Amino acid sequence: MIKTRVQPATEANTVPNAVDVLRTGGLVAIPTETVYGLAADATDGEAVARIYEVKGRPSFNPLIVHCANAEMARTFGIFDDTANKLASAFWPGPLTLVLPHKDGSLVSPLVRAGLASVALRVPIGVSADIIAALGRPLAAPSANLSGRVSPTRAAHVMDQLGSAIDMILDAGACQVGLESTIISLAGEEPMLLRSGGVPVEEIEETLGCAVARSRSDAPVEAPGMMKSHYAPRAMVRLNATEITQEDGALNFAASGLSARHSLNLSPDGDLREAAANLFEYLAAFNRLDVKRIAVAPIPQLGLGAAINDRLERAAAPRA
Ligand code: TXA
Ligand code: MG
Repeated sequence: MIKTRVQPATEANTVPNAVDVLRTGGLVAIPTETVYGLAADATDGEAVARIYEVKGRPSFNPLIVHCANAEMARTFGIFDDTANKLASAFWPGPLTLVLPHKDGSLVSPLVRAGLASVALRVPIGVSADIIAALGRPLAAPSANLSGRVSPTRAAHVMDQLGSAIDMILDAGACQVGLESTIISLAGEEPMLLRSGGVPVEEIEETLGCAVARSRSDAPVEAPGMMKSHYAPRAMVRLNATEITQEDGALNFAASGLSARHSLNLSPDGDLREAAANLFEYLAAFNRLDVKRIAVAPIPQLGLGAAINDRLERAAAPRA
């Protein structure tokens, strides 16, 4: 149990206080113009793992990376003419752009849940000031428990996440009151992934062309199933207790699988650390050209469920 501090967003020390919490890996519920977000430093893998833990999601859904301005966003995503047009027309504001991720960006791989794309948005209000003062982007899903509605007041956040997070900034009711519109520019043509604060008609008017609608309203039902440079090329074997030298070994705690290439998700058996390392280590095995990865048993507790979910997808037969 944590004592959750609630602070009005307009006080003079609100921004520095929130920055202090975020800098040390803490979680802050931030008001945005759309809904309240549950924010962590997007470059801090363990802080991002805490977001999944607190929301109680059984899988790693990719998170939106919130930036102080378009200039910051450009360091994480690859902008083409269409992206530039939409960013200058609608940022700051309730529009999220899914763009090809820029290699080598500082965003934790866990934020993208293994996808080759990144979702970027520039919010309005105190959260943009916090991001600018922190000098780093914030990963922030809506600040609700998994399966509940998105909060539009600080009290909604307190009801669901009080005593699980460090701080809630209270700016009253959110102006828009529903989530950002999500447009993907990572595919062949612009695609509406989620309707939200910016009507799609306004986007079409800005672009001078129609925007395709994604067939389902859930844009990434199973991020782990999607093609990406984090999807391991190697065959994955779960609950391994023995191993051959040619395999790659993915250990957890004291599992002690030993091979030419061995990594340990968390030598201390810390599931938060394991979640933070997961996508990075799968990518490392890819680069090493390991043909088979033997994964030690990982407890199906807390974040372990989401870690196992991702590994099970990786182990599933390929088409
Ligand atoms: O208004 C909003 O967008 C709020 C505020 C806090 O900014 N945030 C929000 O986040 O609604 P969340 O996590 O509840 O929804 C983000 C959506 C998810 O459906 C996720 O699958 C999708 O964005 N998403 C994130 N990254 C993606 C990617 N690379 N490709 C496709 N979809 C992505
Ligand atoms: Mg949500």
